[in-house]
Amino acid sequence: MTDAIVFTRGVPPPEAFPTKQLAECFDAALERDPSVVLQYGQQQGYQPLRHELAREYGVSEAEVLVGNGSLQLQDLVAANLIHPGAVVFTEQPSYDRAITTFRRRGARVIGIPLESDGISIEALEFALKRNVPAFLYLVPDFQNPAGATLSLEKRRRVAELAEKYGFWVIEDVPYRKLRFRGEEAPLLRQFAPSRVMTMSSFSKLLSPGLRVGFMIAPAELIKGLTKLGEDTYLSPVLPSQAAVAEYLRRGWLQPNIDRLKALYRPRWETMANAVRRELPEAQAFIPDGGFFVSVMLPEHAHTENLIGRAKDAGLVLTPGGPFFADPHDGMAVPSDRFVRLPFCALTPDQINEGVRRLAGLLHAR
Ligand SMILES: Cc1ncc(COP(=O)(O)O)c(C=O)c1O
Repeated sequence: MTDAIVFTRGVPPPEAFPTKQLAECFDAALERDPSVVLQYGQQQGYQPLRHELAREYGVSEAEVLVGNGSLQLQDLVAANLIHPGAVVFTEQPSYDRAITTFRRRGARVIGIPLESDGISIEALEFALKRNVPAFLYLVPDFQNPAGATLSLEKRRRVAELAEKYGFWVIEDVPYRKLRFRGEEAPLLRQFAPSRVMTMSSFSKLLSPGLRVGFMIAPAELIKGLTKLGEDTYLSPVLPSQAAVAEYLRRGWLQPNIDRLKALYRPRWETMANAVRRELPEAQAFIPDGGFFVSVMLPEHAHTENLIGRAKDAGLVLTPGGPFFADPHDGMAVPSDRFVRLPFCALTPDQINEGVRRLAGLLHAR
């Protein structure tokens, strides 16, 4: 095999898209409600979609904002809550684009170490004694980039700390419904609804091109963010939102999720086995779902110019550095040894070959 194997962004493969069904839903949505769907308006999101989401999350429609993908909602939150001198906490490592977004809005972003069962509570408490963040950003289920899931006990502790110190928590859960094994833990919002913003999107469940993401948060905050959204993009992309509403109304989402899990599960198993077999000395995070396995390579691994050497060997890797924020304790972070391994968009053969190529680079000097 000589083709390059691409272990970079976690995107769904084309076979994941329910193309025909979406086409039907766009048609139906435009026929049903053209004067709303093709017009400016609905700044808080298409009302029938907000209605469906409010029902699912057990909240009022005033607590739901649907925007153009969840990353844009993160940016609106950042613009709203980050004031000069503000600090934001993330897991360490964390979603690279979130770190970039929060920094661009002026925050100092501090990374709190991630353990196999989620953020370190001890390190979080230590960091809270020095700074109370504007918000703590977490990806509690099958984290991007590491794959870790926050335990039930830690969810309780994070919620308690948020209430005690008075900071917001963003729980960003785009992978939550793609669980391959084990039991779902409750959302953080269940423990502290007045302190938690829950964010998710249809990018990983239907298609990222739709740009439909949403958040659930207290009504007062949603009102401010809606105004900021209106001032930024005037109206959200209503045809996409109406197609998603139609998709939900037809009861197609759960069968589609089941189909995606059947597609991704063998890829996840292959990646987990390949990492154990080829990289036995690495500290591997094998997730219970989602898109990413990750590894922390051993200290003695040859990681110098790993990205460049990988490219020459037909392997495209994402550099580890951008997943790391400023360390909470000033200690250097081993970002050059961190490798994220997305598995959903690759065949089992590509996964085996890619991990074999990676392992080959770590000894060769
Ligand atoms: C944790 C996380 N949050 C947000 C996003 C962005 O999602 P959206 O397409 O809804 O903007 C991603 C995409 O990879 C992600 O991994």
